[in-house]
Amino acid sequence: MNTTILGIESSCDDTSAAIIRDGYLLSNIMASQEVHRKFGGVVPELASRAHQQNILPVVSLAVKEAGIDLSQIDAIAFTRGPGLPGSLLVGTSFSKGLSIALGKPLVEVNHLHGHILSHFILQSGRDNVVTEFPFLTLLVSGGHTQIVRVDGFFKHEVIGTTIDDAVGEAFDKCAKVLDLGYPGGPLIDRLSKEGDNSAFKFAKPKIKGLDFSFSGVKTSLLYFLRDRVSEEPDFIIKNINSICASYQTHLVNILTEKLVTAYKQTGIRTIALAGGVSANSELRERVIDAGKRYGWKLFIPEVKFTTDNAAMIAITGYYRYLEGYRTQLDVQPVSRSLDYA
Ligand code: KG4
Ligand code: ZN
Repeated sequence: MNTTILGIESSCDDTSAAIIRDGYLLSNIMASQEVHRKFGGVVPELASRAHQQNILPVVSLAVKEAGIDLSQIDAIAFTRGPGLPGSLLVGTSFSKGLSIALGKPLVEVNHLHGHILSHFILQSGRDNVVTEFPFLTLLVSGGHTQIVRVDGFFKHEVIGTTIDDAVGEAFDKCAKVLDLGYPGGPLIDRLSKEGDNSAFKFAKPKIKGLDFSFSGVKTSLLYFLRDRVSEEPDFIIKNINSICASYQTHLVNILTEKLVTAYKQTGIRTIALAGGVSANSELRERVIDAGKRYGWKLFIPEVKFTTDNAAMIAITGYYRYLEGYRTQLDVQPVSRSLDYA
């Protein structure tokens, strides 16, 4: 008997639907919302409206591309949280409606579990999936920066987290003050390639243990730019590549150092990256270097599985479904962190 799961993701500004059958990905459709670009960040009200417009075509296309009929799915997995309330409501309400119409159960998914379990998505012809526990995940996104010890599909312990901003916010804020656009991470990544990463220095957070802090780094960038621009009005235009390169290397150093400390403290050598910022080319290179040095078994996600996508929600829903977990129809989205397994 096959088990087929429809996954729906709508926690922020990407509307996505995917079909997973017996752990294998059959389709993964994504509609990103261009509307936020000119505002330098996600506008929640516009995000929910765009989800409303996108969700039906995205789900229909995912089903069509998978070559199945909606009646063949066993359950609907959807992101319950964390995320933007209005965005989550669209995915949750749509999933409830579909559940009633099809007579199929709902399975709620914690978005962060989705990022972590993205390493279990099977694809024909590819074998880079995690097959063992425990492993450590560096989960870096627009909303979170965590080091998570993963002892089972739903046995996760956050051993390090940011005490203020997420690293993705530090990328996005930098791009905003440099007037580059949104999302900032990919733009800074690209511009950094032509810059000198030792040209400028920024404040280093003094946070003990495995926790992170990025608000001081962001502020030091703001003061640095303010001072330099007051001396030389063209400073940003003339130095854009080296500002990006220096700032990016600084952020990547902070992440890599903490990941190495986590490895040394736990002795766990199986290491995975997850979340939108794990698309960053310098972070990937640096983690690969550290992996060679310390003998890590590394799992670096394909770029399409780093940022928000429904394939990760479908695979997480698949494992929850197999464990017998079902969600009732009166479920409400939760915008803040979910503590449940
Ligand atoms: O996981 P994600 O799509 O959404 C959240 O759950 O937050 O992550 C989005 C974040 C944004 O902050 C974006 O700037 C960042 O991922 N990002 C990157 C790169 N691609 C996306 N940051 C650095 N370098 C990249 N190449
Ligand atoms: Zn995410």
